Amino acid sequence: MEIKVSENVTSTPCEVIVINKFEGEKTSIELANKYAVDKDRFEGKLGETYILHTFGQIPADKILIIGTGKKEEFDANKMREIVAKSVKKLQQIKAKNAIFDFDINADYGKSAAIGALIADYAFDKYKNKKADRVDEITFAKFSEKEVKEGIVFANAMKMTRDLANEPAQFATPEKLADVAKNIEGVTTQIFDKDEIERMGMGAYLAVGQGSVHPPRFIHMKYTGKNIKKKIALIGKGICFDSGGLDIKPASSMLTMRDDMSGAACILGVMSALKYLEPDAEIHGIIAACENMPSGSSYKPGDILTAKNGKTIEVDNTDAEGRLTLADALCYACELGVDEVIDIATLTGACMVALGTVASGIMGNDKEMINSLIETAKSSGETYWELPMFPEYKDSLKSDIADMKNTGSRYGGASTAGVFLQEFVKGPKWCHIDIAGTAFLEKPQKEFISGATGAGVRTLLNYVKNI
Ligand code: BES
Ligand code: MG
Ligand code: ZN
Repeated sequence: MEIKVSENVTSTPCEVIVINKFEGEKTSIELANKYAVDKDRFEGKLGETYILHTFGQIPADKILIIGTGKKEEFDANKMREIVAKSVKKLQQIKAKNAIFDFDINADYGKSAAIGALIADYAFDKYKNKKADRVDEITFAKFSEKEVKEGIVFANAMKMTRDLANEPAQFATPEKLADVAKNIEGVTTQIFDKDEIERMGMGAYLAVGQGSVHPPRFIHMKYTGKNIKKKIALIGKGICFDSGGLDIKPASSMLTMRDDMSGAACILGVMSALKYLEPDAEIHGIIAACENMPSGSSYKPGDILTAKNGKTIEVDNTDAEGRLTLADALCYACELGVDEVIDIATLTGACMVALGTVASGIMGNDKEMINSLIETAKSSGETYWELPMFPEYKDSLKSDIADMKNTGSRYGGASTAGVFLQEFVKGPKWCHIDIAGTAFLEKPQKEFISGATGAGVRTLLNYVKNI
């Protein structure tokens, strides 16, 4: 879908003109007021739609009225939702172009563009019959600058969603490394198995050793013109999580190609930095590998040594994400950054606690946690803080190593958090668990089923606002 911005639209012919209606108010078009509002009593509740054929009375074939609810409650997040809803309606009626001429006194161009492109998304590359798409929309009331930024954000989300939706047969560690190498505006280093071994990443290496696809450690670096802060962003990059020898039941394994959603998020974020030019040094780090059962797999009872020298008894090979993140966190801390954020489809427990509605967040710095929660809120995502009480560490006690990789079944998201903290030394750190939010089994709000691009908008706004 192409998105344009143009102020003079009153006489431009189009298939559909999209206008809005607040509850208790009229619309900007007389014809719509006469038929939809006066005759049909269309109220304009948030997200409600009404289609009116114009029969040539104005230059558009149809008017689509989208309800914008109560005027005093309207905000950027609602703008995104109603534009997404409108685009879905346009797809349904097979319209190919539309002009959005909203009667709203604020420049919501960024949210509007993001909403339109989220709704335009379909993962149909492997389908012979493609999804219905709108070719072109024009925003009449928003600035070019805001709309452009929205397109940058949406393109990053699309990259993330495409990668996470891609079958694991194609989205291998090598493939992620190739994608990283082709991102413009960053310098990228790729480390192969031998180099990973030389760097002492024994925990990460063990996870990948059962797969025919070798691991790839990816380090991207963006250097802003004006560096106010140094940040490392780490994404969990398990290209497929079978559970390993502690193999998952079929129903839990089904969507485990999404276990690199954190990595896909970081790749999407890094791809947008060139356009956003944040005042920061930003490292994108991914320890990519596959968790597979085979004769060469790591085994329950094995003892692994992480990059910081700490030893880990493998209690469960399905708690693999934290092992790969442990080494990635050590690596990030050695870069001398101010802040580290890791984002990971880490625990089923987080999904049980928060569902698909919110991501879990933990960390060692209250201010940073709150800042990310606030940024998420204004970005259209929801983060919810989970506790990191020191008692959670008790269940990780091992008789033969410094710790085990899993503890009690209860409080699993927090146990994973305190495990990760063992590998953070120096910087402020936050961990975002997107197990529930990264991949939807059924449509939710403006998202179709499949990958959502969780984390992309929040992390982009976070680095942009430095
Ligand atoms: N990748 C999974 C977590 C997950 C579950 C992500 C559901 C998305 C949806 C992770 O590697 C895992 O298997 N975690 C185990 C940990 C357990 C063995 C302590 C889990 O949550 O069951
Ligand atoms: Mg697992
Ligand atoms: Zn996993």
